Amino acid sequence: MKTISSVDVSNWPYQDFLQRLGRVADEGQFDVYVVGGYLRDRFVAQTEGKTVRKDIDFVVLEDALKFAQLVKEELHGHGLVVYRQFGAAMVEVEGFKLEFVTARTESYEANSRKPSVQKADLYSDLSRRDFTINTLAMGLNARNFGVVYDPFDGLSDIRKKLIRTPLEPSVTFKDDPLRILRAVRFATLLGFDIEEKTRRAIREMAPRLEILSWERIRDEFLKILGAEKPSRGIRLLDELGLLPYVFPELLDLKGVEQRKGYHHKDVFVHTLRVLDNVAAKTDKIPLRFAALVHDIAKPRTKAFKEGVGWTFHGHDEIGARMMEKIARRMRLSNEFKKYVQKLVRLHLRPIFLSTDEVTDSAIRRLIVQAGDDLDDLFILCRADITSGNPEKVRRHLANFDFVVRRVQEVREKDELRAFQSPVRGDEIMALTGLKPGPLVGKLKKAIEEAILEGIIPNDHDAARDYLLQIKDRFLQEDNRLRSEKKK
Ligand code: CTP
Repeated sequence: MKTISSVDVSNWPYQDFLQRLGRVADEGQFDVYVVGGYLRDRFVAQTEGKTVRKDIDFVVLEDALKFAQLVKEELHGHGLVVYRQFGAAMVEVEGFKLEFVTARTESYEANSRKPSVQKADLYSDLSRRDFTINTLAMGLNARNFGVVYDPFDGLSDIRKKLIRTPLEPSVTFKDDPLRILRAVRFATLLGFDIEEKTRRAIREMAPRLEILSWERIRDEFLKILGAEKPSRGIRLLDELGLLPYVFPELLDLKGVEQRKGYHHKDVFVHTLRVLDNVAAKTDKIPLRFAALVHDIAKPRTKAFKEGVGWTFHGHDEIGARMMEKIARRMRLSNEFKKYVQKLVRLHLRPIFLSTDEVTDSAIRRLIVQAGDDLDDLFILCRADITSGNPEKVRRHLANFDFVVRRVQEVREKDELRAFQSPVRGDEIMALTGLKPGPLVGKLKKAIEEAILEGIIPNDHDAARDYLLQIKDRFLQEDNRLRSEKKK
């Protein structure tokens, strides 16, 4: 098997820990190798400088469950979880999440008559993995510690930035169709290409996605949205014919219609730009999701109006409602769904409010409806300005800044309004000898007004002195009104 001896692993992270694991393996006479993301990341340039993952995968040539048990005992681990059917076990040690899998020779298929735990060699185990970039292994035992095995030229593919299956792609994908989406995920996150033969198999086998649980599809999809440029992932899903199985509503956004000299923009293209604009500002996945679906109801609400052109009335509200079905299908949490619905529902509002005459109460309604998510809404709204005309962009952004300023103004006003006199009713009654009644309220209001007008500072002693100063005038006035009423 191709081994690489030129790799210097001595400065890789967690070497001491891996060596201790290796000693446990030697003591128990287990052959153990590091595989998966930890190893891949050591060779992929994009991951340099990023925090090093603490979840590490291992393949064990003997019984992984027994090895996990031994690791737990020897290194004082905890939280041992065993997946007997898959010959896998997880254990936590010193903040590391270690996953041990027994080397396997054949496919994962549940209907296989072969025992699920069966001794295999390293080569056949690696051959059953998803992509060549994930077929690297590093020895842990004393005899081969730090030796990197690369039977399928994974390192060369990492250098070429290529996603390729180690076996015939149809065999690899048949083992687990989720790998179809993993290919898109790795390509998007790492900025790699998918090899042509692998692409062809993905296209052919796309309908196999139907047998996957939506939880697994969702997890991959949300990881794709986490990329630096998530539009690339959505385009790949589209090019590879996967959107019908993952997000059919996005397909309806495609295309431009022309009538009587009017055309509208291609909503698919626009959506992807908004998505990337949002991604440049935030890592927050639900906000990126909201960008993806903000115009989802445009195809449904599209109408041609004589002399006006294309309209999409109500696409904000209908889009928010469409999220019900999408969220149910994708098993998104209620909190995730409600957040996305709120942003979709409100995404046009700030621009509507960008006129001089807009009232405080209209602004206040936006503040209340958006609640804690107002800043996120602003990120989405700014990202939504994708016009190619610089003058238009400038105007929209200026309108937008106006709304943000108005929100600020109204917030400040409301904060002042919500404040209370530092001298409360009880104290007013004690200082004036008044009984509970409207006059107490009047005095309190007068103190608040004096603070708002800047006559006195907003502190307790100043407010009390002011009360003592005005109380006689208020009492006399009250008496006068009372006697007038009697007459
Ligand atoms: N694997 C596979 N097919 C799958 C899932 C996983 O072949 N459907 C293999 C791959 O070799 C992968 C390893 O199992 O590298 C570990 O899987 P996982 O932890 O899911 O992925 P990582 O590669 O570690 O990457 P990440 O943690 O970023 O998902």
